[in-house]
Amino acid sequence: MSETEKKSETGKCKSRLSLWQKVREGPGQFRQPRQSQIWKSIFRHKLDETPRNRVLAVLTNVFLHLHPTRINRDAIRYAYTWGMGGITFFLFLVLTVTGILLMFYYHPSKDQAFRDILYLEHDVPFGSLLRNMHRWAAHAMIITVWLHMLRVFLTGSYKKPREFNWCIGVILLVLTMLLSFTGYLLPDDQLGFWAVTVGTNMARSTPLIGHEGPFGPELGITAYNDVRFALLGGSIVDANALLRAYVWHCVGIPVVISVFMIVHFWRVRKDGGISGPAPVVLPSEVQGDKTSK
Ligand code: HEM
Repeated sequence: MSETEKKSETGKCKSRLSLWQKVREGPGQFRQPRQSQIWKSIFRHKLDETPRNRVLAVLTNVFLHLHPTRINRDAIRYAYTWGMGGITFFLFLVLTVTGILLMFYYHPSKDQAFRDILYLEHDVPFGSLLRNMHRWAAHAMIITVWLHMLRVFLTGSYKKPREFNWCIGVILLVLTMLLSFTGYLLPDDQLGFWAVTVGTNMARSTPLIGHEGPFGPELGITAYNDVRFALLGGSIVDANALLRAYVWHCVGIPVVISVFMIVHFWRVRKDGGISGPAPVVLPSEVQGDKTSK
């Protein structure tokens, strides 16, 4: 064997060895995932070294950077926030997921709508569970959004500099109620029919844009061009009303409310985080300070 042949043979052996070594080291990467190249390529900074590194770890992570790098521990206590804003958002996510699944079984037409509900209740596997998850999450969201508003009011968090976010909150409240109201008609049962009949009849009396409201008739508003007519797509609760309720419920309002939620959360950050009591210093931390001096 010539000298060059020998060299290439040992080279091959080495590369085979290193491949074998890599295979043997493989499970080690699972034992210490934080040491693996894959982990290091995703998380650029160690979590726990210096305050600067901690901040960078949050800032350079696409999910974590949505959170502030520092927060007032006392402001996020459940005893202070009741967790109601977060629970309301969680319920909205549950409603979105279950709502999309419900859309696979539902047709917004007078012939089909109620039959689809019966089919869902009695024949679709887990259909009744799915429908009830959507229904109960909707009821719960109405309750939690009101409790959240009550908490914000009781803690005076509507005051400067949070007035704007309070107003965004009022819009969110109205949109949440509208989501619930438009969903009511969709099963096309007696309950929904009469609820929407009563609800839209109230719209007749809207000032300026209702045909029985103040200044409505003076402005030329009639039963055939007022806000009730626009809501129902006609003058009675029928097929057009069902289709309009469906489009608003499944597309229009969810898109608008999502945009306002994004503004709401962004604004909590920009207003200096959640309002709250001044941070409490724990005795252990005071002790720590003294020893470090
Ligand atoms: C879809 C409805 C809503 C969602 C998902 C939502 C979500 C949140 C979340 C997650 C927070 C952080 C603090 C916490 O959890 O308490 C928050 C804060 C806040 N929300 Fe809402 N909210 C909604 C409706 C409302 C309503 C109806 C109002 C009032 C009219 C409101 C006014 C505020 C204000 C002023 C803050 C800042 C509070 C503070 O700094 O202590 N929100 N919201």
